[in-house]
Amino acid sequence: MTFFFGCDYYPEQWAQWLDEGEARWETDAGMMAAAGFNTVRLAEFAWGLLEPEPEQFDFAWLDRAIAVLHRHGLSIVLGTPTAAPPPWLLHAHPDLTQVDENGRRQGPGTRREACANHPAYQARSRLIVERMASHYAGHPALIGWQTDNEFGCHDTGRCFCPHCARAFQTWLRQRYGDLAALNKAWGGTFWGETYHAWEHIPAPLRSTAERNPGHLLDYFRFSSDSWVAYHRAQIDILRRACPGQFITHNLMGFAPQINYYDLSQGLDFVSWDNYHYHGATPAAIAAAHDHMRGVLRRHFWVIEQQVGQVNWSVYNPATPPGFTRLKTYQSIAHGADGMIYFRWRQALAGSEQYHSGLLDHAGQITPSYAEAAQIGREMQTLAPLLAGAEPQAQAAILLDYDSRWALEIQPHNQHLRGNVAEDHELHLPALQMDSFNPQDGPPYMTGRNWLAWPFLAPYVALWEKNIGVDIIAPAADLSRYPLVCAPFLHLLRPEIIATLQSYVHGGGTLVLGPRAGYKDAHNRLFATPQPGPLADLAGVHVRFFDSLEPRRANHLHWRSIPTTHDAIINLWAEVLQPRDAAVLASYGADWYAGQPAITHARRGKGQVIYVGCMGGPALYHILFDWLLPPIGVAAPLAPVAGVEVAVRQATDGRRLIFLLNHTAESRTLSLPQPGTDLLSGQRHERLLHLHAGQVAVFELRDG
Ligand code: GAL
Repeated sequence: MTFFFGCDYYPEQWAQWLDEGEARWETDAGMMAAAGFNTVRLAEFAWGLLEPEPEQFDFAWLDRAIAVLHRHGLSIVLGTPTAAPPPWLLHAHPDLTQVDENGRRQGPGTRREACANHPAYQARSRLIVERMASHYAGHPALIGWQTDNEFGCHDTGRCFCPHCARAFQTWLRQRYGDLAALNKAWGGTFWGETYHAWEHIPAPLRSTAERNPGHLLDYFRFSSDSWVAYHRAQIDILRRACPGQFITHNLMGFAPQINYYDLSQGLDFVSWDNYHYHGATPAAIAAAHDHMRGVLRRHFWVIEQQVGQVNWSVYNPATPPGFTRLKTYQSIAHGADGMIYFRWRQALAGSEQYHSGLLDHAGQITPSYAEAAQIGREMQTLAPLLAGAEPQAQAAILLDYDSRWALEIQPHNQHLRGNVAEDHELHLPALQMDSFNPQDGPPYMTGRNWLAWPFLAPYVALWEKNIGVDIIAPAADLSRYPLVCAPFLHLLRPEIIATLQSYVHGGGTLVLGPRAGYKDAHNRLFATPQPGPLADLAGVHVRFFDSLEPRRANHLHWRSIPTTHDAIINLWAEVLQPRDAAVLASYGADWYAGQPAITHARRGKGQVIYVGCMGGPALYHILFDWLLPPIGVAAPLAPVAGVEVAVRQATDGRRLIFLLNHTAESRTLSLPQPGTDLLSGQRHERLLHLHAGQVAVFELRDG
């Protein structure tokens, strides 16, 4: 198979900045080819150059750049350039920029500032995409399209401008049909929010007091749908004009504002941009890969991979030797079919001057270029073996946008907001899992992945145990997974309830996390005890819950699980009332010491564990050590701290095992069978020594 390997390149910048002008393209293309690259992504912000004046199109410079790259054997992915509207468009329509929830209009002139519902932005976007598509359709260098760039980046998933307010009213009419249904769904009688005309319904700007949760959740859905529709228009144009080329979009891991399952419909595969902000752990990055693969349940590309410092994090550490190679193989281990490095060369002028490239600003090669070139050589052996080899996942973790949004709207504990846009700007501390110290402040992951750590706790425990995971939508087909965890299924839609019931009755093991089943599809509480429609399945209900300030940590007493390990509880504790479930653990402290915290019920051929408290990976390690052996979930290799083990398996039984040392020290592993490292060509008997940051890949054969 082809492994798509290359970089993000901005030929227009170098033509402008260097005295040698376009002649530099030749040098760059030669160096790309020398590194083993076969793919380059271009033009995703070039609207202002491709259409410098309204309907005056200039593709000549891009044609020349593509011709140079193609001559060096490089294929092209073109970005539709709509993330950066040109100055003339912004000038003609001062209301084209977004309005934030405080009513503040964004200024023009950076990127992503446009409103998805602005008619001129929509029409002009369609035109540039049509023109680009018809100009490049059938071009021999073109292999695919990237739509736009990172929908929702820079906190732009939700706009509150008058265009959006009107579009929201239309969206509501279509959804509810009549105002009585809407009023019932939002239940706003308490503060007199009963609407008698669609035109009276506002975009829910921030105001004096708490906003109506039903109104807000629908606005979040509407905002997401607005970008989905804007995106769909581009997909349709490209599909018609270029049926032979793939279409992808660059997602951002766990970014919060746009429903990625919806946004990705119509794409051939998703791509994502993998940046290692201050505080990201290898497990958190692995989780993001597993979610990106789970969005369409297909392989993906990393279409932007950090290769040195970023310019936007709280601190911007230099990357250690081996970083680019380690991150590349981690991506491949999790199912990447493409690896495109951002960026080719550090910029001399304009935005992001402090962002590293494979070449530094002076055009000198960096250690990451050398690592990329090494990977280019290694892929000659590895790429053919990747064909048909699927990342092995024995467990699924369910991630639902409605639940995330409902918790964002009413976290009920300020440390559980779950989503903090651009929180790297807030100087929050790095992700600290079990070592979370309340003195340090909120336990968020900082930066671009925007997910509170309690969601990731079961993931991290499975990752540390070398168990592969898919992170998928809750109403997906779950039948292939022996284990399913739903750490935050706060809001239940009917199809989720049905999926979980049939999964468990069919023999599945479901681990529900705290706050499950409290809310219905309209963000109202169910009129039955939590977890509402899942209470019978779980054999338990919640008597009451406690929202803990960080200093009030609790701990568990395990009952039927033999362990000497302790598990700390933070931030959230539900006191459970078993109906026909056994108590696995109870609280160790506070005025409800001794009361049930975790229960276990057998149902049909399956079982449900209800975890009513929020703990870190240590809690899930104890639980999984007890739970996994009887259901046949086992690791391919005994865990060694800091070494990631991931398996890709082909239908013929062939297995590739990736061993990634994420630590700054050497580690020794016991191999399941003697073998030859496909990357180094070295044969190893039973023991393998991996030095800091080192990777090895073995092919395992059955028997
Ligand atoms: C991404 C973006 C790129 C570049 C990069 C810098 O969000 O798509 O254009 O800005 O971040 O880290």
